[in-house]
Amino acid sequence: MLNADSPTRYTLFMSTAPQKTFYLETFGCQMNVHDSEKVIGTLVHEGYSQVQTVEQADLILYNTCSIRDKAEQKVFHRLADYKKLLAQGKKFGVLGCVAQQEGDKIFERAPHVSLVCGSASYRDLPQMLVQIEAGKRATGLDDRETDECFETEFTARTNPHRGYITIIEGCDKFCAYCVVPFTRGKERSRTSESVLAEAQQMVDFGYTEIQLLGQNVNSYKDPAGKKSFAELLAAVGEIPGIKRVRFTTSHPRDFGRDIVEAIDSVPTLCDHVHLPVQSGSTRVLDAMQRTYTRDEYLEKIALIRSARRSISVTSDIIVGFPGETEEDVAETLSLLEAAQYDGVFAFQYSPRPNTASLQMGDTISVEAKGRRLAVVQDRQREIQIARNNELVGQTFEVLVDGASRRPASPAGGPGQWAGRTSSNRILNLSSPHAGLLGQYIQVRVTRASPNSLIGEHVN
Ligand code: 5AD
Ligand code: SF4
Repeated sequence: MLNADSPTRYTLFMSTAPQKTFYLETFGCQMNVHDSEKVIGTLVHEGYSQVQTVEQADLILYNTCSIRDKAEQKVFHRLADYKKLLAQGKKFGVLGCVAQQEGDKIFERAPHVSLVCGSASYRDLPQMLVQIEAGKRATGLDDRETDECFETEFTARTNPHRGYITIIEGCDKFCAYCVVPFTRGKERSRTSESVLAEAQQMVDFGYTEIQLLGQNVNSYKDPAGKKSFAELLAAVGEIPGIKRVRFTTSHPRDFGRDIVEAIDSVPTLCDHVHLPVQSGSTRVLDAMQRTYTRDEYLEKIALIRSARRSISVTSDIIVGFPGETEEDVAETLSLLEAAQYDGVFAFQYSPRPNTASLQMGDTISVEAKGRRLAVVQDRQREIQIARNNELVGQTFEVLVDGASRRPASPAGGPGQWAGRTSSNRILNLSSPHAGLLGQYIQVRVTRASPNSLIGEHVN
C-alpha cells in the first residue's frame, strides 16, 4: 500500500490548481504499488488532486489484486462498505488485476462502479475520466494480443529516495496455480535504453535506490537486442549517483550465473535475491508446472552462495496445493533447512479462475492448510532467529527511510530511526544525529529478532 503518512512527491511535474479529488487504495504486490504511482501521476496531470480519505474524494479508486481469493474479496467488501456514498455524487473505479479478470461483470456485482480498467489500459485513463465525468461508464481491458509495453507518461513516486522501474510486464510461465498470466498478459520487455533513461532521470531527481520490477525479471529480453538482464542490471548500477539497485522477482529456471557475476562485480547491486521455490517436493513442483526440480533449485542456491559477497535469499512457498501429502510438506521443511532463507512469504493455496490447477480441485482441507502453513512458518522463524543472531556485532550500511514512531526526543531529532540494509533486512537504530532520512549510515547490530535487527549508528 502507498504510505499515506509520507507526502507525495511528484517527480515529473507539479499540478496546477486541481479542483477534482481522488482517493486511491492499493492492494497487492510492488507491481501494483508502482502502477498506482503511474495512475496518481496521470490523474494529477488531468487536474485531480489526491486525498487521504474516501469522504474527501470525488472519485474513489481501488487498485486490486487477484493473486489469492482473499485479496479479491477485499475489493468487493470495500465497494459494499462505501456504496452509500454514491448518493453524494461520488464515483467508483476498479483498477488492476480484478478489473482485468472480471471485466464488465464488476458492473453487475457492484452497479455503483463506473470505471473498470486493467493495468495495460492506464494510458487511456484521461479519456475514461472524461466519460465517467459525463455520467457514463468506462471500461479499459487489454486483449493481451499486443507486444506493446504499456508505458504511461507520468509517474508520481511516493518515496523520495527509493523508486521502482518496470522492466518487463506480464508472464508467459503459466504456473498451474497462478492467475498472473491471465491478469497481466504476456511478457513484454521495455528497451534497455528507455529503462536506463528513466533510471538516469530518477538519479537527476535525487533518487539513490532503484528497484527493477517484473513478474519474472530473468525473462527480460531487450526488444532492441542490446542488453541481457544481467547487463541491464549492471548498467543501472553503474549510473553515477546510484547507491543501490534491487530487482524482483526471479524465476529459478531462468536465474543464471551472469546475475551472480554482476552482483559480484558491481558494488551498488544489492546483496539480495528473491527466488521463490513454492514447494520443496519435486512431485509438487512438477504438478505446479514450475519447470525445475528440488535439486535444480538447490543448485541455484549453491550458485548464489558461491558469490564472493554474502547474498541474502528470500522465497515464496505455497502449502496445500491439490494433492500435496504430508511427505511433500516434510520435503518443503527440509528444503528450508537446506536453503537457509533470510525470509519466506508462505501462503495457503487458493484456487484461481482460468488456472490449470483449478481442474485439480481444492483437495486439502482448510484445517490442514492452516496447520501446514503454521509448521512452515515456525520452522522458518527458527532459521531466521539463528541467522539474524549471527549478525549481532557486525556493522552494515543502512539507508534510513523512516523515523521511529516513538522517537526518543519529541522534536524527532536524536533518537530512533528505521532503515534497510543492502540485504533488505529492516534495521531499527538509535542515533545521536537528526535529519537522517535518506542518508546512508553505518550501523552496528546490537540485537536480533526473527524479522528485524536493532542497532546503533556508528559514524
Ligand atoms: N494460491 C496461493 N498462493 C499463490 N501465489 C500465487 N498464486 C497463488 C495461489 N493461487 C503466491 C506464490 C507467488 C506469490 C506472489 O503468491 O507463492 O510467488
Ligand atoms: Fe505466476 Fe509463475 Fe508467472 Fe510467477 S512465474 S507470475 S508464479 S505464472
